[in-house]
Amino acid sequence: PQPGWTIETDVIVVGSGIAGLTTVLDLREKVDRVLLVTKGVLSSGSTVWAQGGIAAAMDPEDTPDEHLEDTLVAGAGLCSEEAVRVLVTEGPHSVRKLVRRGTQFDLGPDGDLTLTREGGHHRDRIAHAGGDATGAEISRALIEQLDAIRNDPGIEVIEHAMVVDLLTGAPDAEGRPGPVCGATLHIIGEGQRDGVGAALAKAVIIATGGIGQVFRSSTNPASATGDGLAVGLRAGAAVADVEYVQFHPTVLWQGANARGQLPLISEAVRGEGAYLLNGAGERFMVGRHEMAELAPRDVVSRTIVEVMREEESDSVFLDCRHLDAAFLEQRFPSIWASLAEHGIDMAHDLIPVAPAQHFHSGGIMADLHGRSTQRGLYAIGEAACTGVHGANRLASNSLLEGTVFGRRAARDASSLIADGVLRQLEPEERRGDSALVPATMRTRVQAIAHEGAGPMRDGDGLDDAVARLARIRQRFHTDPVSTVVPQTAEWETTNIVATASVLCEAALLREESRGGHQRSDYPQTDPEWAVRLAARLDPDGRM
Ligand code: SIN
Repeated sequence: PQPGWTIETDVIVVGSGIAGLTTVLDLREKVDRVLLVTKGVLSSGSTVWAQGGIAAAMDPEDTPDEHLEDTLVAGAGLCSEEAVRVLVTEGPHSVRKLVRRGTQFDLGPDGDLTLTREGGHHRDRIAHAGGDATGAEISRALIEQLDAIRNDPGIEVIEHAMVVDLLTGAPDAEGRPGPVCGATLHIIGEGQRDGVGAALAKAVIIATGGIGQVFRSSTNPASATGDGLAVGLRAGAAVADVEYVQFHPTVLWQGANARGQLPLISEAVRGEGAYLLNGAGERFMVGRHEMAELAPRDVVSRTIVEVMREEESDSVFLDCRHLDAAFLEQRFPSIWASLAEHGIDMAHDLIPVAPAQHFHSGGIMADLHGRSTQRGLYAIGEAACTGVHGANRLASNSLLEGTVFGRRAARDASSLIADGVLRQLEPEERRGDSALVPATMRTRVQAIAHEGAGPMRDGDGLDDAVARLARIRQRFHTDPVSTVVPQTAEWETTNIVATASVLCEAALLREESRGGHQRSDYPQTDPEWAVRLAARLDPDGRM
């Protein structure tokens, strides 16, 4: 659609989770004009749902090297050690910066941070807030900081605005999109602006979070539709590790037909001593892994899937009955309340749980500064793939990733702008994929992703998923939606199809099992496959 209005800024930050907010606050000290765009309200992304906490070597006994080691082990041989080193060494400083920005982490009687443990960590290194409401507290503090400078003429915040596509400069010799120089925005409902507009900028920073809605059920909120990954692909950026989806082991099981966002039961509950039981009431993780219930997340999810298959059941059970009720209620107030809403007494009842989609380790390929392969485009947080997570993210490394790489991207973009390396370019009309998939296709696509690329995959299922998704893209490519301005649901469904497609294609290609990618037809980890897969669209918009 033709933009009805145009604005100019220096940097556009897309997304208002921990990564986006950190970037905006840091950028504001360094560039004249920043535009923050978010699809819902400032607090409606995934960050507010993060329960367990943020991992960093804050204990005097702990070291970044030990955090590095645990992260590399969880990543199953596919992490970029360089990126992990950045994450763990800058982690403690970033957590202190969150404190300076007003985050009230839980403190012990001595006034020090209370640190807990989660799967894959050999030490207590997870800082938390409000017991089990860490993301909500970080989000509150950062939004308050932003509110304090909202009247600053250098800052514009547009809520309820979806980035439909990125604007790009003159294409290269092969016809690939040129450098990124802005974004097309679709305003949802009424607000400061309306309809479709263009925002021109010297740099765009994607911080749109994850892809949960590509699957039938997820711990992610409704906004997690893979928008960043999809617009990045369409603008010519490479994506990497997209086959690595993390399924959280303990999501409240609500029946086989449960859809959309499901309640998470933090790994920190197991960190405080809860057990996982099979249908016969036995602790099945003992003897399967030396860390038992606190094995890395992929190991626990995989074992749960195996147990459910063996028992022909839909769930296993989380057992907190041996833990003190008053402690549980005070340590996990949100989980306690959410379970109570579902008629479950956390201290006395077994809690039915099953794995569900939780996190995307892959994303827009980004270097240590958040730079994508496309000039002018950065990616940070869950939308990015710097290689910090490899084949499986270590628990509570995601909030950390958002804040560490948010700071780095802000620093890099502002210095390239100051040096004139990034400057305002004229956007060009771009060729490419004009397909727009109707919202009515969403549940079908979610079922395809769920069946083909769930926690246990195989070649036949993935083949089928790839073919069905290709047919959907083909069908709507040749039948583009015409004069009517499409609505958010159509843009989102289009992005879900693009994300599901690249994910299933990469998963089909990877003929081994590793971390979050498990194939029943290739159950072993193959050393020959200790390589990362990257993809980008060809000039015609094909994968
Ligand atoms: C949890 O609290 O279990 C989730 C933490 C995370 O995803 O890192």
